[in-house]
Amino acid sequence: MTDQSDFDALGFDTRAVRAGIERTHFGEHAEPIFMTSSFVFESAAQAAARFAGDEQGFVYSRFSNPTVQAFQDRLASLEGAQACLATASGMSAILATVLALVKQGEHIVSSAGVFGATAQLFNMFARYGVQTSFVPLTDPAAWAAAVTPQTRMFYLETPSNPLTEVADLMAVSEIARRHGIVLVVDNCFSTPALQQPLSQGADVVVHSATKYIDGQGRVLGGAVLGSRKLIEETLLPVLRTAGPTLSAFNAWVLLKGLETLAIRMERQCANALEVAHWLEAQPRVSRVYYPGLQSHPQHALARRQQSAGGAIVSFEMGGTDDASARAAAWRVIDGCQVLSITGNLGDVKTTITHPASTTHQRIGPAARKAAGIGEGLIRLAVGLDRPADICADLARGMDRA
Ligand SMILES: Cc1ncc(COP(=O)(O)O)c(C=O)c1O
Repeated sequence: MTDQSDFDALGFDTRAVRAGIERTHFGEHAEPIFMTSSFVFESAAQAAARFAGDEQGFVYSRFSNPTVQAFQDRLASLEGAQACLATASGMSAILATVLALVKQGEHIVSSAGVFGATAQLFNMFARYGVQTSFVPLTDPAAWAAAVTPQTRMFYLETPSNPLTEVADLMAVSEIARRHGIVLVVDNCFSTPALQQPLSQGADVVVHSATKYIDGQGRVLGGAVLGSRKLIEETLLPVLRTAGPTLSAFNAWVLLKGLETLAIRMERQCANALEVAHWLEAQPRVSRVYYPGLQSHPQHALARRQQSAGGAIVSFEMGGTDDASARAAAWRVIDGCQVLSITGNLGDVKTTITHPASTTHQRIGPAARKAAGIGEGLIRLAVGLDRPADICADLARGMDRA
């Protein structure tokens, strides 16, 4: 099969291992890596036609590359998108999306609970005349109230980093549609294995492929997905000119990552649920945030919108004030002998992070407070480690707390 639409009738698992393949004349079975900066033309006329876009074909790897194309086609197939553009990182996917969709004098409404660098990026755009309002993710009325005649883009993560809040995609997309606003959803935490936002009203999906799509913490990558018109006419000119494109090698790693995405997510979600239940029973834990728990405020919505709760579990160590809450959280982290203390997530190795002092440090105390990120908060990205080992590791630090 070389026409990618031929894959549409196949199941998710089959598309995850086969979509995007266009075999060369060597008949290789595994996907090849095309490590080449540029492509050779048969003549000057062909070069001119390719550069003008009058003839299909590869030109230069900043514009496109066969391995990158294979990754894009496979991810598009899994997200149910007409088209995909891969980027060098998740942040460059978000940057390219803003550059392509929003111009000076226009306005973004973003959920307050987003990855720290995303909030910082939006704030940086103020210097280019683009203002951002931050609203509570879970309150559709707040999204509606924040709309101005200049609003061009709604931006959210669901579940959000690090509190796993869940947005009502249908409700927010309805508001966006009413005002002609583009809804962009960061699908990093759920991945297409659990949720496909384009089928629930989103116009654009962005990814940090660095996370679950790689799944083994090896490379950085990102992607933007949406309609063919939006991707090819609006995003592509920005991306090929500005240049934060994905390398062929990283695309290959991510392409192979997609093959095991669904089974990794299934097991990691099951492990996360087990750890979340255990955390709920710990007297020193004041709150657990996990959409798969009945105690989660958007549990019912998450059940409708996602096929599982995800693999991120956050929890709060109680304290009498900020300093004691931070000390308790750090003691838990420092007590770990198995879990990896690192800012990344989505790895098969379980990772543990203190968001207030790491991933969300630079947004400052006021923005952290608005986003509900306290000093006692710990984020776990549950991997393939045995849940009992994860709990035992956490218990060591908790006993010291
Ligand atoms: C939800 C979310 N979006 C985007 C990013 C940025 O991705 P990258 O680090 O690949 O630039 C991250 C990184 O942690 C993230 O957690």
